[in-house]
Amino acid sequence: MVLIWTKFSVLILAGLANGVIRQGLNGQWKVTGGPNKTLTIDAYVPGGIFSALMESGTIGDIFYGTGDSNYSWVGLTNWTYSTTFTVSEELLNSRVVLVVFEGLDTFATVSVNGHEVGTSENMFVRYNFNIRDQLQVGANEISVQFASAVATAEALAKDPSNEYVIPPECPVPEYKGICYVNRIRKQQASFAWDWGPAFASVGIWGLTEIIGFDDAFIEYLVATPLKNPDDDFWTVPLSVYLNAGEIAAISGTIDVSLETEKGVRTSSFKFNETVDEFEVKVTTTLLVPSSEVSTWWPNGYGTQSTYKLLVTFVSEHERDQSTVHIGFRTVELVQEKLGTGQGLSFYYKVNQVPIFAKGANAIPINILPERSQSLNLAPLFETMKSAHMNMLRVWGGGVYNVDYFYSLADDAGIMIWQDFMFACALYPTDDAYLKNVVKEVKHQVRRLASHPSVVIWAGNNENEAVLAQDWYDTMDNFTIYKNDYVKLYVDVIRPEVLKIVPNATYLTSSPTNGLESDQEGYVAQNPGDSLYGDVHFYDYTSDSWAPETFPIPRFASEYGYQSMPSIESWLTATASLDDLRPDSAFMDYRQHHPGGNDQNVDLIELQMQLPDPESENYVKAFIYFSQILQAQAMKIQTEHYRSFKGRVNEKGEGNTMGALYWQLNDVWVAPTWSGIDFTGRWKMLQYFAKDFFNPMIITGRLTDDNLEVYAICDGLELPNVTVKGLVQVYKWESLEPLIAVESPISLDLYKSVPVTTIHAPTALQTAGCGSDYAEAKKKCFFHLRLLDQGNNILAPFNYIFPEKLKNCALAKPAVKIESVEIVDLYKKIFSVTVSTDAVALFVWLDTHEVKGVFSENGFLQVLPSKTVNFTADSRVTLEELQAAVTVTHLSDPAYL
Ligand SMILES: *[C@@H]1O[C@H](CO)[C@@H](O)[C@H](O)[C@H]1NC(C)=O
Ligand SMILES: *[C@@H]1O[C@H](CO)[C@@H](O)[C@H](O)[C@H]1NC(C)=O
Ligand SMILES: *[C@@H]1O[C@H](CO)[C@@H](O)[C@H](O)[C@H]1NC(C)=O
Ligand SMILES: *[C@@H]1O[C@H](CO)[C@@H](O)[C@H](O)[C@H]1NC(C)=O
Ligand SMILES: *[C@@H]1O[C@H](CO)[C@@H](O)[C@H](O)[C@H]1NC(C)=O
Ligand SMILES: *[C@@H]1O[C@H](CO)[C@@H](O)[C@H](O)[C@H]1NC(C)=O
Ligand SMILES: *[C@@H]1O[C@H](CO)[C@@H](O)[C@H](O)[C@H]1NC(C)=O
Ligand SMILES: *[C@@H]1O[C@H](CO)[C@@H](O)[C@H](O)[C@H]1NC(C)=O
Repeated sequence: MVLIWTKFSVLILAGLANGVIRQGLNGQWKVTGGPNKTLTIDAYVPGGIFSALMESGTIGDIFYGTGDSNYSWVGLTNWTYSTTFTVSEELLNSRVVLVVFEGLDTFATVSVNGHEVGTSENMFVRYNFNIRDQLQVGANEISVQFASAVATAEALAKDPSNEYVIPPECPVPEYKGICYVNRIRKQQASFAWDWGPAFASVGIWGLTEIIGFDDAFIEYLVATPLKNPDDDFWTVPLSVYLNAGEIAAISGTIDVSLETEKGVRTSSFKFNETVDEFEVKVTTTLLVPSSEVSTWWPNGYGTQSTYKLLVTFVSEHERDQSTVHIGFRTVELVQEKLGTGQGLSFYYKVNQVPIFAKGANAIPINILPERSQSLNLAPLFETMKSAHMNMLRVWGGGVYNVDYFYSLADDAGIMIWQDFMFACALYPTDDAYLKNVVKEVKHQVRRLASHPSVVIWAGNNENEAVLAQDWYDTMDNFTIYKNDYVKLYVDVIRPEVLKIVPNATYLTSSPTNGLESDQEGYVAQNPGDSLYGDVHFYDYTSDSWAPETFPIPRFASEYGYQSMPSIESWLTATASLDDLRPDSAFMDYRQHHPGGNDQNVDLIELQMQLPDPESENYVKAFIYFSQILQAQAMKIQTEHYRSFKGRVNEKGEGNTMGALYWQLNDVWVAPTWSGIDFTGRWKMLQYFAKDFFNPMIITGRLTDDNLEVYAICDGLELPNVTVKGLVQVYKWESLEPLIAVESPISLDLYKSVPVTTIHAPTALQTAGCGSDYAEAKKKCFFHLRLLDQGNNILAPFNYIFPEKLKNCALAKPAVKIESVEIVDLYKKIFSVTVSTDAVALFVWLDTHEVKGVFSENGFLQVLPSKTVNFTADSRVTLEELQAAVTVTHLSDPAYL
């Protein structure tokens, strides 16, 4: 049925029927339990046991020291949440009264006035239990008894009726983690990961309310606009999911109103449907003229308009309303043969425009799921937007985020690659497990599908690779596990997604060869094939600053290097600076990646000269050098991927259309792959991302003796200026370029364009760096600029080091903070001016305890004076900032 809009009008609702009654159950509850069942403390809902124990002072800060081990007993015991609430006569007169839990973590038995009303076994499902018959007018009691998730997972794994093991049973010892998490539908990382601690929480982590109704209430709205390229209207399939309780049929009217740019369009239709398992799905299709709405675009390609769609359900005894904000865009994951005949493409096309995906992978916003409900996420999205990101992969070992997260993504133009919550493991496929998963998929897809930001659903993270690369010694029984894999992601999850959104894009895994994997029975021989699909790339032994180290894939959906958080962040986790040495027992404790601390030191020492481990400033240097190592490695790798946009090599590799680095955020203070640390401080990587993801960049690679320079431009339009590339040669000790080679270029939105190729030995000789290339490389470096005819700067400055920095004759510049001034006190913006008398590398401004971000940091300074802005997180005086701010650089004498 296609819904015909009646007219533009103001919707007038019939005032006859009563509304659905909603009564929140959030706020102060009590929780009892503990190893001796003797603890009773206040607990806030939404909340979790670790938060409650910390807030009541029962335990200390779990993020301090070895808190994850000290407090592991919390996850081993049962806990009961309870509260009382008042029921009115009006509520009790409803035909159905449900208690609705947005999130129960994980195994709970819910009782009302001593009567059991339901149980839960999936943290990602919304539970409704009918409690009407247990209620009385006046005071009532509700209790939620949680069984230990650790004990339950173990019992499930050891059930004698299991036919075979589902590996891995336990994480590697370095994780200091808990076993059998793949048996349960709980955030997989809550039993530890390589970047995070084990906190096997329980709790009521989502909002809770009571709903009373006579006929039905609106449980979900799904509206997902579609458009054929030639149409001048959008087709919007709309599904209204009504919960009707136990009743045979339900009839009523659905009123729809959409606020377009031309006014409010309204329409209305009647329905009469039978109820199936408490539920009725009422569907229609709306047609919206393209002229009445603006298209939703990813960040960097246009604006992000969304429109309010209001649905009102009216029946004999009821009236209920629900709203979604929809965006008008088309999305396609293009996998088609390329001109070269090798492999298939793999890229996102939004509104018919191929998009180079730029962004990162997100781990859980907080390891305690309840905390991700209340954090202010707006700064995180502002950060991504300022770094020109347009995609975020919500990774499968965490949680589906709160609605507000996706609304912010809609507004920021951040496309969400949404994994289902399965990662790095095999999973059960018995009937009970699959039924449980189906509930989860139904709930999550219905809840999130209307967000224009959600562009793809992916079955899992790395589980195709788990099988193909035999991570857990499953090759002998490959067929058993492969069949389970296909059953779960292809036969069960995929059709559930398509039932809700027939035009959804579904990808079975990541990394995957996509259609090629499907051809090979869903598990490809090599799911990381660079000619197909996406790749995840990690290598901690090769040169991390050499483009040759990196693959040339269609799409890089994960890649990363570790670094250390800042000292101030570390001091929230330990009091001892000695703990921050890479060989300390504490660093070994917090380093979950096997061999990580040694790898980090080796990777640094391949490029730079760390100070003597005995020197006073070693820890400070190690932290700073580790951030340089990571930032520069990620810059070189990302620019390498961008330089293969629209370009292939002789093997047919290339046409790269995505770079999502691992990882955006942190859940504790540890050596990890993040760009933003647990305290919200930016590592150098996050500053570099602003430059390496800039819509226009100039980049280069030195292979053999040739410096190849490329320019890349993303977006919908080329700049209306004549563009030139400038390659300069500098000596380390001078701020004057020795030579400059100018090349006119024609930028191309669809491909990386060669700017020039320079014979490096000749260029260095001409510049006066010396005729012996090996020696000349140590004295000089290349500096790249993208300019218009008026020499206006179009892209961030770039630089290529012809030699490893540890071998170079670096200058010893005098780098100083010249001034700190107020720019806008109301907006907390200050300016900081830094001076130097020679080339200064990785100039790093730090405000220590004063939190905030600079407009630029970690830069290479070739100008005698450079001014950047600092925006403080909270109010600070000029004097306080002047006292706090310090500057360092690679050749800082403090490190000698
Ligand atoms: C539980 O009881 C034991 C033995 O009385 C005691 O040692 C332990 O500290 C108690 N644990 C808690 C968390 O109260
Ligand atoms: C945590 O455990 C460590 C190691 O057993 C111990 O030294 C430390 O005192 C404990 N801390 C707390 C707060 O219980
Ligand atoms: C925790 O609850 C489970 C299930 O309700 C029960 O089987 C188990 O014995 C309880 N454990 C403890 C330590 O009370
Ligand atoms: C709805 O349909 C049922 C069965 O077809 C019918 O008995 C009932 O009268 C209808 N109700 C309304 C309100 O039209
Ligand atoms: C293969 O599975 C069978 C049971 O189906 C089991 O006995 C055997 O140990 C498994 N082999 C391996 C190597 O896991
Ligand atoms: C939506 O999916 C249907 C069924 O797969 C397909 O026929 C149709 O072309 C798709 N429409 C758009 C606009 O993508
Ligand atoms: C470039 O010029 C065209 C035609 O003059 C104009 O429509 C467009 O807005 C300009 N684009 C930019 C980015 O300035
Ligand atoms: C600093 O902030 C001011 C005010 O927002 C702005 O005009 C100026 O361009 C900024 N400077 C830098 C270097 O970002």
